[in-house]
Amino acid sequence: MTAGGPSIQDDPQWWRQAVVYQIYPRSFADANGDGVGDLPGILARVGHLRELGVDAVWLSPFYPSALADGGYDVDDYRDVDPRLGTLADADALFSALHANGIRVIVDLVPNHTSNRHAWFRAAIAAGRDSPERARYIFRDGRGAAGELPPNDWPSHFGASAWSRIVEPDGVLGQWYLHLFAPEQPDLNWDHPDVHADFENTIRFWADRGVDGFRVDVAHALKKDLSEPYRDEVTIGVMDEYPLDGSHPLIDRDDVHEIYRSWRKVFDEYSPPRVAVAEATVPAPRRALYATEEELGQAFNFDLLEAPWDARRFRSIIQENLSISADTGSSSTWTLSNHDVVRHATRYGLPRGTDLDAWLLTDGATPPLDRERGLRRARAAVLLLLALPGSTYLYQGEELGLHEVADLPREVLQDPIWKRDGGSRKGRDGCRVPLPWAPDGPSFGFGAKAPHLPQPSWFGSVAVEGQRGDASSTLQLYRAAIRERRALLAPERLDWLPGDDSVLAFERPGGWMSVTNFGQEPIALPPGRLVLSSVDLEGELLPGDATAWLVREQG
Ligand code: GLC
Repeated sequence: MTAGGPSIQDDPQWWRQAVVYQIYPRSFADANGDGVGDLPGILARVGHLRELGVDAVWLSPFYPSALADGGYDVDDYRDVDPRLGTLADADALFSALHANGIRVIVDLVPNHTSNRHAWFRAAIAAGRDSPERARYIFRDGRGAAGELPPNDWPSHFGASAWSRIVEPDGVLGQWYLHLFAPEQPDLNWDHPDVHADFENTIRFWADRGVDGFRVDVAHALKKDLSEPYRDEVTIGVMDEYPLDGSHPLIDRDDVHEIYRSWRKVFDEYSPPRVAVAEATVPAPRRALYATEEELGQAFNFDLLEAPWDARRFRSIIQENLSISADTGSSSTWTLSNHDVVRHATRYGLPRGTDLDAWLLTDGATPPLDRERGLRRARAAVLLLLALPGSTYLYQGEELGLHEVADLPREVLQDPIWKRDGGSRKGRDGCRVPLPWAPDGPSFGFGAKAPHLPQPSWFGSVAVEGQRGDASSTLQLYRAAIRERRALLAPERLDWLPGDDSVLAFERPGGWMSVTNFGQEPIALPPGRLVLSSVDLEGELLPGDATAWLVREQG
């Protein structure tokens, strides 16, 4: 069963320069009023996506889950969480998106299942040395009675990466590895069942018409657990990774065999299914995941991690474009996702602000300059959308949403908050349900009480209010995506002259993008103005602003 109209099946290379919109389903739109967003809620809002003009949506996990990690703890990869809908709802959503020319990318979470997954339950029940346990990473503990974890590796979310189970006979027993929360046991990717099952899952969704896959934690699937264990293992600190594939847990060379075999499955389909790796490793290593023989693309979080600085932006763009050219991949660009403080907020804080510490002050110190942050965010998205490659947008950024920094501690859901002893509030502030209407109990999200509370200022940035306002951020996004489609050119750029605080480039065909990162107005190059992130006076581009122009021919 392949859903969708003929128009979107045309171009197998569609993903190379796509605008992809990430939906975090539980916080997008709630059709049944239970406080949690759902698939029928997304279906009811396909019009918003069509008007925005995006080429594809990436749906974060909507599978059955206890939500120990926002759905990245998957109970069953081939089903829909009953709170979010049914498989029939998924089919209906995919069809509606396809009918509107929007492709569908779903999230694949292969590093770990949930602890409620049938395999993990069977592993616990079957006892030590059983074939069921071999699908995960179980080890005996250290100490006289095995009371200490096998080693001192930390998890991403704080505390040990090992948890101890109660054996079927009721006594404390073996330990299992989890790079994330204890509810997310890591799979053993040396086991053939694991390979076969994920290929089944890929086929299951591809057969339903899904166009592509976002691969969660793609760099961590293969592990070296030979003893003696390596100590001093850092997880999550990119700068400390060796660049040679020798880390015992991260970015090992043999992980690439998995993606080469998935590529064969993707290529069974016409057009071939696409994929994008979440591989949080430095650019040259990341490129290995993005080759044509593997996943095709990998997220590039370099701009997301960069300060608002023209020189940094330029060197990141240059490095990534040249790596893409060398590997045959296309570049990806993104400023926000469900794991980070929203970029309008990052850009409104003093450079170098420790975001975790700032969240712990509920956004009080240092004070956020909301207007400056939004102004830079608007400039930044025009810059990104003019770059060669794909741009990944995160739901709500088209409204210019800021982070909800003052969520009360008692409503926090992120395992980071719970596991890290209250030293980090975590990621809930960018996952607050979207405001669709200027008023009402959940600003049009659906329920009377959304699963995370919305602040009162959400009403002033709701979709409905921005729709009729030509100067709104929503209208800027719509115009930018529409103009981009018309101007889209081969994946190249030439830098235009400008001082250190200016980033200006030209795409084939004369499409120019000029961003002024400084404060003093600058002169724009000659050309027809297409769009700008602020109102322009004459030929000058003020600070923290981007303009698109087209060079007049002849
Ligand atoms: C990825 C997801 C993140 C999740 C983690 C574990 O980084 O983006 O939300 O917590 O993987 O699955």
